Amino acid sequence: MNIGNVTFTDRLICLSPMAGISSASFRGICCGMGASYAPTELVSARSIVYNGLSKSFRFAKIDRSREKVTCIQLFGSDPSDFEKAIDVICSDDRLKDVDIIDINMGCPVSKVIKTGAGSALMKDPALASRIVKASVNAAGRYGKPVTVKTRTGFGAADRSGPEFAKMLADSGAAAITVHGRTASQMYGGTASIEDIAKMRDAVRGYSIPFLANGDIKDGPSAKRMLDITGADGIMIGRAATGNPWIFREVRDYLDGKETKIHPSVDEKCDMLLTELKLTAEDLGEHTAVREMRKVMPHYVRGMKGAAKVKVLLCSADTIEDVRKILDSLRNGNDNGME
Ligand SMILES: Cc1cc2nc3c(=O)[nH]c(=O)nc-3n(C[C@H](O)[C@H](O)[C@H](O)COP(=O)(O)O)c2cc1C
Repeated sequence: MNIGNVTFTDRLICLSPMAGISSASFRGICCGMGASYAPTELVSARSIVYNGLSKSFRFAKIDRSREKVTCIQLFGSDPSDFEKAIDVICSDDRLKDVDIIDINMGCPVSKVIKTGAGSALMKDPALASRIVKASVNAAGRYGKPVTVKTRTGFGAADRSGPEFAKMLADSGAAAITVHGRTASQMYGGTASIEDIAKMRDAVRGYSIPFLANGDIKDGPSAKRMLDITGADGIMIGRAATGNPWIFREVRDYLDGKETKIHPSVDEKCDMLLTELKLTAEDLGEHTAVREMRKVMPHYVRGMKGAAKVKVLLCSADTIEDVRKILDSLRNGNDNGME
């Protein structure tokens, strides 16, 4: 399977981009566990145009030693911002090896949609098309494909998803990912596999990969999504937080090996520390520990003593603090917690 000139030999099973979670370290870990690729979180095209990479580099950072295929996701609402931002990225020594540029047309957060970006672009397909064309043009000069991640519609009654997907393909998108919720649903309710399938059907005649996304949490839910939508691949978001093993588990399941992976308490604690240390290499220890406060509780989910440990992790300041908290968990030294 190809996304532009990038060839994948395995089924596409990707980490879905998540702001505040998809750090370079976590993306590298997920790729090591079998994710085909892992786009960065959304990065503002306009900020890159006005500030260069000074503010954005930490979000756009890619690591070819850990990620097999790299993908930077941009958001914005002005075609020329995308053109210029792609030029900046592809001319930067640290980022120019990026394989894929992805455009965010799904973010429902108000500070993004009020600028006309993210899912707001679903309400303006003509502008969305101009953004894709401008990006394809700019990235094409560097031999890189442009993909789009979007939703099934904007408002609850919006049925324009299939037409929108067709427009994206006609405008030159090299792959399309669809999250099966409308923007107005945010992350509530359940993802509509049927609505994703309708968008998949609309672009079946185009030879570009289609990825389905939303509520995939294990092998069976991944298989159901693939079977019903006929998608070429999937993206997994929230279920991967604190659980990068999910990529191996889902791959095994889809390959007919019904192996449920149960990482031990030690393995989970070790993985948390690995992610934390790698993040500290990028951001410094102080920022890394603070930024991982919202991620760390996911690693200890379901463990005996997790409730109190989660609270302690959220107030940790150093890697040593985290290590000590985890040691108490490993030793079962939880003082009767939970
Ligand atoms: C905290 C959080 C941050 C997100 N940030 C992004 C983002 O930067 N770019 C994007 O395309 N989607 C983003 N999403 C949406 C996810 O990529 C994904 O489409 C959504 O969570 C549904 O998939 P899931 O059910 O597997 O989590 C985010 C979701 C969450 C929960």
